[in-house]
Amino acid sequence: MAEDFDVNLDTPKYYTPSAKCTENAWAGDYSQRYQEFLADPTGFWEDIARELEWYQDWDEALEWNYPYAKWFLNGKLNVTTNCLDRHVFNQRRNKVALMWRGETDDEERIYTYKQLYHAVCRFANGLKSLGVQKGDRVCIYMPVVPEQLIAMLACARIGAVHTVVFGGFGVSALNQRIRAVGAKIVVAADVTVRRGKAIPLKTIVEDAVVNAPSVERIVVLRREETKPVELHPEMEIDFEDLMENQPRECPAEPMDAEDPLFILFTSGTTGEPKGIVHACGGYMVGTYYTTKHVFDVKDNDVYWCTADPGWITGHSYGVYGPLLTGATCLITETTPDYPDAGIWWNLIEEYGVTIFYTAPTAIRMFMRVGEEWPKKYNLSSLRVLGSVGEPLNPEAFEWFYHVIGGAKCPIADTWWQTETGMHMITTMIGEPMRPGFAGKPVPGIVADVVDSDGNSVPPGTGGLLVVKGPWPSMMRTIWENDERYRKYWETIPGCYTAADLAVKDENGYIMVIGRSDDLIVVAGHNIGTAEVESALVSHKAVAEAAVIGKPDPLKGNTIKAFVILIQGHQPTEKLRNELVYHVRMTLGPIAIPSELEFVESLPKTRSGKIMRRVLKAKEMGMDPGDISTLED
Ligand code: WT7
Repeated sequence: MAEDFDVNLDTPKYYTPSAKCTENAWAGDYSQRYQEFLADPTGFWEDIARELEWYQDWDEALEWNYPYAKWFLNGKLNVTTNCLDRHVFNQRRNKVALMWRGETDDEERIYTYKQLYHAVCRFANGLKSLGVQKGDRVCIYMPVVPEQLIAMLACARIGAVHTVVFGGFGVSALNQRIRAVGAKIVVAADVTVRRGKAIPLKTIVEDAVVNAPSVERIVVLRREETKPVELHPEMEIDFEDLMENQPRECPAEPMDAEDPLFILFTSGTTGEPKGIVHACGGYMVGTYYTTKHVFDVKDNDVYWCTADPGWITGHSYGVYGPLLTGATCLITETTPDYPDAGIWWNLIEEYGVTIFYTAPTAIRMFMRVGEEWPKKYNLSSLRVLGSVGEPLNPEAFEWFYHVIGGAKCPIADTWWQTETGMHMITTMIGEPMRPGFAGKPVPGIVADVVDSDGNSVPPGTGGLLVVKGPWPSMMRTIWENDERYRKYWETIPGCYTAADLAVKDENGYIMVIGRSDDLIVVAGHNIGTAEVESALVSHKAVAEAAVIGKPDPLKGNTIKAFVILIQGHQPTEKLRNELVYHVRMTLGPIAIPSELEFVESLPKTRSGKIMRRVLKAKEMGMDPGDISTLED
């Protein structure tokens, strides 16, 4: 629940992007667009949906049966005909759809829309040959390579539901997700490349499919050419072999607008990650609309979203959104500081990137290593910048705006979530930008900052960020846990509560402050305290564990763990390392604690809940606030 807090809003400072950047932007007049939406909310969305191709028109735009929404009722579509066929059979056949860059400049692969279309069709036919049918779940566990996107789109082509698992996750996280969705097929790669080293993924898959009886086949992309990994023929099949000799056309499955398109897991506050379910029609319309207008995509843009499709940002703005708009997309398997901190700026110059969407944690890392890196490259192609994942603090905004954008590019600080599917709050191109503030709801969305009774709070007073009413790309449910879905709409009746704390200024600009629940945002990734705690407790030496986020100038937050050992185990340096390693192996490197302290006891409520807020206050040397419920 929101704690009341006041924020000093100081003297507002707004930046106005240059007229040249904004003259052709759709949202040039934001208030007019917003009024158009308010005048006819569903008609507004229908107009957008009509820009796309449907096999069958919808009867009704919206059926709102709180908290359940159906959009574009009985409309029939396939998202891949909109991402591919629509361009291939029109003007964009030979336009570059995808450019992939590995870590070195001799690793480059390029697909035109037509080539991508055929690759997707062939892999879709391959999946069909393995018996994959509409509604079956396919788990994709790959690094950022064209085949990762091809696998996603091939699933969508035949109506299979994909669950992409980020390649940085470990065995138990992968196993849990495969089992949760009952995946029939796992599509994996042998390795992911990081800092010049091949890191095996296939061994992780081998361990993760144990006790996952739903899995029938594993499709393995073999990247290692000199010494290809061995395949076990009873289960495993080579990615290329599966595509070979398949027809290069594959009729797209006509999907109902409400059929699921994918399930993507996001960390929950109570251990089990939540499988967020998105529906074909609304998700397509929402991601198309926001990519096109928040980023103002034009036909000659070169678009680069740095997120891995293992996250929602990669789904919505690395794959579906940009392909729906027919953009030329850059994807890369690079690490921002390898071989040096100039690599991303090098890529922007080399590919002439015009729209660049990244995360505050990366921006802060670049700030730290210094301006000399971007200064080495010509970044004048850039036109629009975007940020997502956590608050873009004013210092990072200024640096991004001046050093990267040359004080001429608008920055869209986009607030949204896995659950929302698309951008919800940002500053639309053409509007003045206020550093530190994401901005206002995009036309089509009603959002507000409210107190715990749901009343709008005055400017400067903190509260809960809520969305009022349904929108097309909202999640439809949580996989096999509808009760948890309803919770999002129950905290404040009638509203979707995002579990973020926020504050508005006198112009209605919203600043997102942080989470109000037990999630820690580390380098833009949500980590549930409970996930890390249960990973620690699964170690034989650990009796109990509590985890908190500590503010960090670079990553936003880092994880600190407090651990109580089972009697007989000694709090040694060796055990500390072993526990960190254990978390790495179970959850993956993104979840490892950067500090681990052995303690004798943990602060708890009388009902036995760990009071993480007390731990955190102590850690930060702050007043823990109300501790009346503390056990002793
Ligand atoms: C949480 C959602 C949506 C893609 C990335 C993460 C935080 C996201 C912003 C922003 C401040 C932000 C929120 C949100 N967040 N964007 N622009 N400013 N905070 O997706 O993993 O579902 O996380 O990320 O706390 O609730 P996700």
